[in-house]
This record gives sequence, C-alpha cells and structure tokens, in this order.
Amino acid sequence: MYNINKGGVIILDFGSQYTQLIARRIRERNVFSDILNPTISLNEILKREPLGIILSGGPSSVNEINSPKLDKNIIEIGIPTLGICYGLHILTKFHGGIVESSGEGEYGPEMIDVEHGGLLLEGVSSPSKVWMSHGDKVKKIPKGWKILARSSNNFIAAMANENETHFATQFHPEVYHTTQGDIILNNFLFKIAKCKPSWTPNNFIQEKVAEIKNIVGDSKVLVGVSGGVDSTVVAALMHKAIGKRSKAVLIDHGMMRFNESVDCVKALKNGLGVNIQSFDESEKFLQKLKGVVDPEKKRKVIGKQFINSFDSISVKFNDIIFLAQGTLYPDIIESGVSKGKNAQIIKSHHNVGGLPKNMRLKLIEPLKELFKDEVREIGKELGLPYSLINRHPFPGPGLGIRIIGEITYKRIKILRLADKIYIDILKNENLYDEIWQAFSVLVPVKTVGVMGDNRTYENLLALRAVTSTDGMTADWFEMPTHVLSKISNEIVNSVSGINRVVYDITSKPPGTIEWE
Ligand code: XMP
Repeated sequence: MYNINKGGVIILDFGSQYTQLIARRIRERNVFSDILNPTISLNEILKREPLGIILSGGPSSVNEINSPKLDKNIIEIGIPTLGICYGLHILTKFHGGIVESSGEGEYGPEMIDVEHGGLLLEGVSSPSKVWMSHGDKVKKIPKGWKILARSSNNFIAAMANENETHFATQFHPEVYHTTQGDIILNNFLFKIAKCKPSWTPNNFIQEKVAEIKNIVGDSKVLVGVSGGVDSTVVAALMHKAIGKRSKAVLIDHGMMRFNESVDCVKALKNGLGVNIQSFDESEKFLQKLKGVVDPEKKRKVIGKQFINSFDSISVKFNDIIFLAQGTLYPDIIESGVSKGKNAQIIKSHHNVGGLPKNMRLKLIEPLKELFKDEVREIGKELGLPYSLINRHPFPGPGLGIRIIGEITYKRIKILRLADKIYIDILKNENLYDEIWQAFSVLVPVKTVGVMGDNRTYENLLALRAVTSTDGMTADWFEMPTHVLSKISNEIVNSVSGINRVVYDITSKPPGTIEWE
C-alpha cells in the first residue's frame, strides 16, 4: 500500500517548543518527517516504516509521576533513535541510568567538549557551541552506554548505547544557535538511520497522484478552490491525477479580494486546462453572518456554509463523492487536531475545525503533510505561474475575518478597495515579494478627522505586513516610511469611509497573523 511516511523519520512530541523546528530541519534535508503523539503504539509506528525516531524535548521532568511516557517496545525494537533533552532523560531512565532534578540547569548558549564523537558527533569540532534548555540532567548514564560530549559545566551533553543505535543529546541540534547542528542532524539521518534524501517535490507529486488515483478509483472529485495558493495547487494536482473527473469549484462567498474569483478561474482554466466553475453564493453567506461578531463563531458559520454550498452544488454533478481541499500541516496543528501534542485551539481554520460531522462528501486533503513553502515548491513543479504560486496566503474565510465586528456589504466594499490600493502599491514598490503576507483590517472604531474644511468621522483601517517562512511564527515587516505614507494618503483620499490608517507592529507570537 502507498505509504508517504515510508523511509522517513517519526518525531514523538513531548511538548517541546522546538518540535516543529525538528520536523522542518529534517524535511529541509529531503527526508519526510511526521510529528506524532508519544502515546502511539509500536504497531502504528511500524505501519509507517520509519528509518529513524526522534524523541523531542518537553517541559516535564521524567522524575514526575505524571510525566509523559513511551511504550517500552518502541525503544526496544531497535529503530535508530535520537533523544533530545527530555528524550535523553527518557532513554536514560528507561535503560537504568539516573536523571537528577536538582534545579541546576543550563539555558541558552553553552560550549561542549567532544570526548568520543561516535557516529553522531563525527565531524563536530571540539569545543563547539550548542543551545541548551534544561533543568534536569543525567547523573549516571545507563550501563553499557558511553559519553560522547560534556558541557563546560561538566554535564553530560551527548551519549550513545554500545552498538550506536540509540543516541541522545542534552542540547538541541535543531536550533540554529547550535552552530554544528547541521552536521549532527546529517549524521543521524544519513549515517545512522540511513535515510535517503528522496522527499522531493517531484517524488511527492508522483506519490500523491498514485494515492489519489487509488483512493478515488473511477469516481469524481469536487475541488474547493478559494483563490489562494493551497487550493490552486490542489486543483492542479487533482487535474494531473484524474483529469476531467476532477471538478474544481470556486464558491464566491462574497468576501474575496478585488477581482479575485474572476482572475483565479481565468488562470486555472486558460493556463492549466483545469475544469473549473465559479458559483456566487455570497448572499447565503452574508445572510448567515448577520449579527455575528465573535471570531470563532464567524469561522464556524463560514466553514459550515462552505460545506452546505459544496453539498448542494455537488448534487448538480453526477457521482461526486469526494471533496478535495487545501488543508496544510500547520492548519491541522493550530486547530488543535494535531497528531502531536494536545495543542491548544488558537483558531478553527475553516477548512479543519468548522467541518460539520454529518458531511455527505468524503474529504481528500492531499497537502495535509506540508508546510506553506513546501506547497509553493510543489506548485512550481506542477508548472503553475509565478503570480499564482507567490501570491500571499489568503485565509478561507476571506475578508470576513479582516472585518472586525459585523460583516456587511458596505464594510466589505470599503475593505476590498483599501486592500487593493495597499497591495498595488506594494507591487509597484517591489516590496510584495519581500513580504510573506500583507493585508488590511477594518476596525470597528470611528475617529475624527478633517478633510478640506470639513470634519470627518469615519473608520479606522489597520495595515499588516509580516515576514515568515510558514506562518507558524512571523515578524512584522519594516515598511519604509515613504511607502507607508503613500499608502495612507492614497487610501484616505480615495476610499470613502476611511479617514485614518495605522500600521500593526506585532509579531507572532504573541499576536497571530490575522486579527481574528
Ligand atoms: P494566523 O492568523 O493563525 O494565520 O497566525 C496563519 C496563516 O494561516 C492563514 N489562515 C487561514 N487559512 N483558513 C485558511 O486556509 C483559515 O481559516 C485561516 N485562518 C488563518 C493566515 O492568513 C496566515 O497565513
């Protein structure tokens, strides 16, 4: 059976803030990695045929009664394993060593001395700079294990079992501040676990096409297209897999960007030959959204209407039983349905958390293992035009979650026009591609202004622009002041209903990218 995990590395997540980073650093090396909950059984792990296992760090102490545990069979099966921080403590305790919770830890940059590099530290210089973040430490290593490195505080920094199948580091090789972390990860992946760097866009496409054909058989699939890069890539992928049996449908919920639905249909139909049609469902959406101001409720209402619209549209086509959509890995993690740690629900992304339980169509989510930048690579490989692939991400609920407070036709019109002016200026100033995502937010606050000799009392508009690689973390973009001034002038002068513009200087965390 098709198995995308095969030959990859499984990360068992004990709650470290760096778990995502471990996954990314492995994928950057063209090896597939998946984050799973440590309560998983050995059988489930074996089904995925991984070549390596990484035990992540975590906030707990192995000496606490309720600390997260691991099925002992997973450790004993002999798959090459690397324990990082808490992972090191788990391996130590399991094999009979002693972990001490003295409160005496190391946090931040540290130097290590390599005593006996072993396969893991081969090529690492001594001393070498690493990143530490631990309160517990190994007091006695398990019988038969050897110390590979010590920190300048004489703490055990890395160790391995006798036949070098199990390794553990007290420091974090995945963090960029560990200057030779690259060498360590390469050693683990390619020398110890013997992974092949085969997680490439081309292989992904071939495997997904095979998987889609296998799942769909002779049936037909409806593809939900929103105008954003994710769903566009899904439409292109489904078209490649099953041709005309894939029917792309763009539901215009009335909260799209300026000309977005027309442009998107044109690009997919004319450019790629995708079988696509758009449906104007805006009235239904806006009707349901009347009086709704709570962000989570908005998302749920929009998500539900999407599915209802898809359901009723699909009836118009014969034999459709599948719905394909562009859910990404971070969508799953941030919606709290992660296979990894019990992530807190931050936002219900409409294409994950908002799905009703009694949906008629069966879901296909071919990109659900991918981060955003990986989706762009896939899009490039599929031959999508630059302008489509590099378009800033746009959330499924659209402008709806950028209109704070109630969504009305009038407020959509104001925001859409302001947003167009903002984005056009960024493109003209050659800043668009430097920014990961830029948009404007209509704030339900009125302020006093003066235009000509008249007093105005109009809406406030917030501009947001962030840099990021995957949307999981982001920083606000340092916009040149002359550009800010141009945007502000043009918007206030030409958008009736806005008389004041502010710029958002919040990173993620603590903020999120969207305001709702
Ligand atoms: P946040 O606001 O969670 O956004 O920091 C991270 C990225 O996800 C996008 N986003 C969504 N995408 N459906 C989507 O397809 C959604 O419901 C949704 N909510 C946020 C957001 O635009 C940013 O790129």
